[in-house]
Order: sequence, then structure tokens, then C-alpha cells
Amino acid sequence: MCGIVGYIGNKDSLSILMDGLKRLEYRGYDSSGVSLICRETSKIKTIKKAGKIKDLEELFKTNKPCKSNVGIAHTRWATHGEPNDINAHPHNDCFNKISLVHNGIIENYRTLKNYLIQKGHTFVSDTDTEVLAHLIEHFYKGDPMVAVKKALNRVDGTYGIVVLFSEHPDIVIAARKGSPLVIGKSDNQMIIASDASAIIAHTNQVLYMQDGDVAYITKNDIELSTVESNDALDAEFVEIEMTLSQIEKGGYEHFMLKEIFEQPDSLRDTMTGRLDKENGTARLNGIKDYFKNLTDADRIIITACGTSWHASLIGKYLIESYTNIPVEVDYASEFRYRNPIITERTVLIVVSQSGETADTLAALREGKSKGATVLGICNVVGSTIARETDAGIYTHAGPEIGVASTKAFTAQVMAFILLSIALGRKKLLSFDQGLSLIKEIEQLPSKISEILHDKNKIDSICRKSYKKKNFLYLGRGFNFPVALEGALKLKEISYIHAEGYPAAEMKHGPIALIDENMPALVIALKDSIYEKIISNIKEIKARKGYVIAIANKGDKILKDIVDDVIYIPETKEEFSPILSVIPLQLIAYKIAVMRGLDVDMPRNLAKSVTVE
Ligand code: G6P
Repeated sequence: MCGIVGYIGNKDSLSILMDGLKRLEYRGYDSSGVSLICRETSKIKTIKKAGKIKDLEELFKTNKPCKSNVGIAHTRWATHGEPNDINAHPHNDCFNKISLVHNGIIENYRTLKNYLIQKGHTFVSDTDTEVLAHLIEHFYKGDPMVAVKKALNRVDGTYGIVVLFSEHPDIVIAARKGSPLVIGKSDNQMIIASDASAIIAHTNQVLYMQDGDVAYITKNDIELSTVESNDALDAEFVEIEMTLSQIEKGGYEHFMLKEIFEQPDSLRDTMTGRLDKENGTARLNGIKDYFKNLTDADRIIITACGTSWHASLIGKYLIESYTNIPVEVDYASEFRYRNPIITERTVLIVVSQSGETADTLAALREGKSKGATVLGICNVVGSTIARETDAGIYTHAGPEIGVASTKAFTAQVMAFILLSIALGRKKLLSFDQGLSLIKEIEQLPSKISEILHDKNKIDSICRKSYKKKNFLYLGRGFNFPVALEGALKLKEISYIHAEGYPAAEMKHGPIALIDENMPALVIALKDSIYEKIISNIKEIKARKGYVIAIANKGDKILKDIVDDVIYIPETKEEFSPILSVIPLQLIAYKIAVMRGLDVDMPRNLAKSVTVE
């Protein structure tokens, strides 16, 4: 949430900053801005604008940036203060000698602002961030590091910041608490960013800043210490595996479409090296030291947000199918504001694509503080959640840029399939059962390809319904969470109101909404509850509802009952979400495109929500 880029080196800073910002635009796109230390004058020039990055670039035509080798840039997802030109970052002190970009929330900003106003500071924006610029100014007596640390010691809340000082044009300072920052180094240059995708074009050597770290950065060197102490820490750089082509569109019109089509490959990557046919099980090396904690657990609690929460619900159904371990699923944002019952035999599994979601991270810390073993299912390698969990399973879906999550979801479900089989083999599953599951897993990527290449039907369904105002998504059993996920996808990118419901629960309320203008999308696969869901469909048809069914190939019944059918290949009931979600992703995508909307950057959303 909010994208930050900083640069210091010999090259033209503006082009590197703008390139980085574009790669981070998925994190927030309410407004954007840059501050440059001008090479000729050593003065700070700040240019910022509400709207997308292209609006900022447009402004450069009239408000020209100066030549510079040091600068910072930001793309914003508003928390405090509406998204307008003035609230856009960077924010500066009273004399434009200090400029900073910030990701996070300064919780005590009102108290600090009142204090600074009394001291004579003039504020221009409604943001919490501007307080930081003035607070650093307040403490600045010639030493930038001293001023930044003194200011950060007065601040409650979260931050990832990068700060420029016009009187020190050869350094930038970066600090992190709660909001991620990564520093990349290559010959004679350093790039600081809120995630590695803004760095990868320049170097694969990165340092992940830890909470409490403050970095004093020149073009060749980093001095790392903490907010509390000046003792030097080791600046440890690691190599990242992400490649540039992974984070580019590769010929697709949108990242979301590219990521939907990547799913056969991303799922192969999730399962690579983990299918153990010899023992009819899955091999999860990342959690092997904690596997006994899982098999001995009195309870597993899974916590997550958004799409990851839907994958978690499928995870619960899977684990409970193959083991006798009770599993609960909790919204991360609720988890720590009640009294979750945790014993030393409880295992908490936190699930996150980004590994940076603030609520999920807070739930992780709550679980840890109460003594639970905490495991992670994460996509982003080296993310905060990946680092703070005791152990975990990486989903290896590759970078996901589209705000609406697609391949990360199927990869998370795959991680749960593997985990449940590995656990199940210690509990209820025989070798033969395990082996047959493993063999079926191998078929899933090609079954997804089949669905992806048979999408003409989806186009015609979307043409019929893209102007509707409401949608109902219904499913039962393993496909109830898929109904939730399908509805979420449609809401997120097409702004159509959509509700996901357990199909049988419909008669307790949503049935009142049914008429010919309310499409009901029903997942009706040939599984153990097929007959029941047919009855639910008949209830809708009796009320003149328009029904689109997701059915298995070979189904002869549904075409005569419903208005439209999308066929998908058969698989085991427990694995069906991985296939049934694909048409729902495509429907959401197509409808949003037909409505002329910005699929990859839907309004008000952000890819990675790093504020509570
Ligand atoms: C945001 C994103 C969703 C995502 C959720 C959880 O709301 O827009 O796509 O599912 O955060 O994110 P995480 O990175 O923790 O999976």
C-alpha cells in the first residue's frame, strides 16, 4: 500500500524513479509525486499531482523537473487526507530543505501537529506524513541521522520512509517500522523501494530492512543502525530470483489476464519437488521441523484477509477431510480483537500473497505472543510474514501485479492441498488414497489450460450480463468459498454489487432479491451434493431468475434447466475449487473490460494493504 522509490547514484534519478513508480503503481494510485535534489543548485524540487502516474508525467511538460542524481518518489493510497495535489507525497518542511515519502500511518500525528504549530511550523496538507517532515526539521541541527532518529522516537504508528536533505545532497536516509522497504545496490548506485519489483531492472542484490532499522545511504555504501541505537548492524544483501519478464505484461492487455493465463505454470511451480509418489504423499521441506506440531495440534487456526481468506476456508475443508484435527478460519482483522483460544498445541497458519498485510501480520504476532506455533503460506519470498513465522510454505506463484488476486489464490489452494495430504497421510489417508490424490494433482494444470482455451462461451455470457447491477454467486461444500471468491472478483474490478452465498442458505434471505435482472451464477458440479444444488437452482428458476451454471463436462441435465452453462473438466471434489474458480476469474475480467474499467487498478483498492 503506497509505493516508495528512492535513488542515489550517477544516473538521471528521474527516469529511474518514474520507472520504479510505474512498477509500484499497483500498490496505490490516488496521486503521485517526486522530489529531486537539483544537481546545479542543490535545492529540492518537488512536483506532485492527484491521479495516476501518467497525470504526473503530463505535469512535467509544464512544471519541468531539474537534472538530478538523487531523489524520492511516491504513489499514494490515501489514508489521512483526500487524494488531491497537496496531500500527495513527497511532503516537505517549512523551507523545502527536507523532503520525505512515507508509507504507513502516524497515529499520534494530531498531538505532534499541534505541538509543531505552536513552535511556529506551517502545515499545508491534511496528511499524517507532513508531521514527520516538520518533526525532522524541528530536530535538525546539521546532522540528518540525529534528526531522523529523534523524530522517529517521538512517533507512534507505522512507517517506511525515505528522506532527502538539501544540505546533504550525497545521502538519503531510509527507515522502516511496519511498512516494508528494500534497498538494492549495484555499481555506484542504490535504489530504495517498498518492494523489489521497482529494483529488479537495476540489480538483484537487495537488503530487506527490518523493523526498527535506519539506513544512511550513499551511492556506494550503507550504514545500518536502529532507531534506538547508533551501534552499526551488518548490512546483509541477498540475491532475489524475480526476473524482469515476470513483472511485465508479456503481450497481454492486462496483468490480471496474464496472471489468469499463467495458472497452469504457476501451479506447476507450486507443486514442483513436492509430490512424493513413492510414499503417496506431499513433501513440504519448509515446515518439516514443525510437522509434528501440526500432527499433534489440538486445533489449527487459519487467518488471512480477502482472497487469501477464501483460500483458507478451502484449506479448512481440505484439512478436516483428511485428518481429525479441528480447523477454524478467522479474518485476520478480527482475530486479535477478540480472545482467540490458543494453547501451546495450537498451530496458527497465516496466509498472505504479499506477506505484508498489516492485519495478517498483527494476527501472526498475536498468535506468537500467546504461544502458538505460527506457520505461513506466503507468495513473496523474504516478506515480513515469511520472515516472522516459525516456518512456512512458499506458494511460488511468481509476482502478482493485478490488484485482483488470481494465480496467488489457486497457488494457496494448492499449498493447502499439499499440506492436507501430507497431514492426512499421518491421519486418515492410506497409501493408495494418497497416491491417487497425488496423481490427480498432476492433472490439474492441463485441466486449467482446457478451461482457458475454451472461453467463447464466457464472452457471450458476459455480453448478456455486463450491464446488470447485481449478481448472486452460489456454491456448496468446497465450492462455497469459490462463490465468495467469484463475487469478490466481480465487485473488485467491475463495481457490480455481488454476493457469494452457500446455495442452500439462499432461501433464508437472498431469494427475495431474485428476478430476471439478477443473474445467479451457480457452481453445480457432479459431486456429493449435486442433487441438492439442482434443487436450489430450481428454486431460482421458479422465481424467473437468470441462472448461469458451472458444470462438469458430460453433464446432461443442467443445460435443460438453466440459461447458460460453462463446462469444466472433472476432478476430485476436494480439488474442484482450483478449476471452478477459473471461469469466475474470466467472467469478472471480461465484464470489467466490457464496462470500460481499469482492470489492474480498480478504484479505492490496493494490492498490498499495509495499514490496519
Ligand atoms: C488486498 C488485495 C486482495 C488480497 C488482500 C490480502 O485487499 O486487494 O487481493 O486478497 O489484500 O492480501 P494478502 O497479500 O495478505 O494475500
